[in-house]
Amino acid sequence: MSIPSPDTPDDIPAGIAYRDWAAVYDSNENRTRDLDASCLIAADLPLAGATVVEFGAGTGKNTAHLARQATRVTAMDLSPDMLARAHKRGLGDHVRFIEHDITGPWPVEPASADLVVGNLVLEHVRDLAPVLVEAAKALRPGGRLYLSELHPFRQLRGSQARFERADGSAARVEAYYHGVSEYLAAAQAAGLALLSLDEPIEHGATIGAETPPRLLVLQFVKTA
Ligand SMILES: C[S@@+](CC[C@H](N)C(=O)[O-])C[C@H]1O[C@@H](n2cnc3c(N)ncnc32)[C@H](O)[C@@H]1O
Repeated sequence: MSIPSPDTPDDIPAGIAYRDWAAVYDSNENRTRDLDASCLIAADLPLAGATVVEFGAGTGKNTAHLARQATRVTAMDLSPDMLARAHKRGLGDHVRFIEHDITGPWPVEPASADLVVGNLVLEHVRDLAPVLVEAAKALRPGGRLYLSELHPFRQLRGSQARFERADGSAARVEAYYHGVSEYLAAAQAAGLALLSLDEPIEHGATIGAETPPRLLVLQFVKTA
């Protein structure tokens, strides 16, 4: 279901919103983005020599981390403007950026990836199932899927991807609610078994009714 928004401007489709957000995505204050980046590093994924597929790579903040150790990174995103920023990072010839809508079939060889990574993307996707099916298809048996998303408790409190444009106006990006059970069911149906589930909060923060976990971080393994 989409997130109700009684007191805010109409949501902007992701394909349009990220055209504007690209210019300020890396520079705006964004605690979710920053926590996501530090959690990915802390996850200590098996990157050395790995073939990695990243979906919703955006400006490449996480691609840069993946590219440091991986042998090959295929990084997809819907937004040419976000990808243009990622390109500018000059991450090397082993990194391939592809403009692609991940709700359709992926331009990735089946069973070729050791690791599939998606951060802060699925909030913008109405139906998780086809995306997780494509992720599972890309993975070799024993390969791993790493997901990091805005925690559904935060979504229920009205949080969703939003930003301030360069001209100071506010924008909210089209978003959909996904509960924990929805992630788990979609993954299981795609042939992915749960390895870990974490609910990170910022350093120094405490969990409370007003401050639920910021992220939901899930790791799965492809079983067959
Ligand atoms: C909040 S940004 C996250 C970017 C990056 N993963 C990060 O953690 O900084 C969400 C990204 O998902 C991309 N995105 C949203 N819907 C998508 C879709 N259907 N297919 C591919 N990319 C999509 C957007 O273009 C945007 O770059």
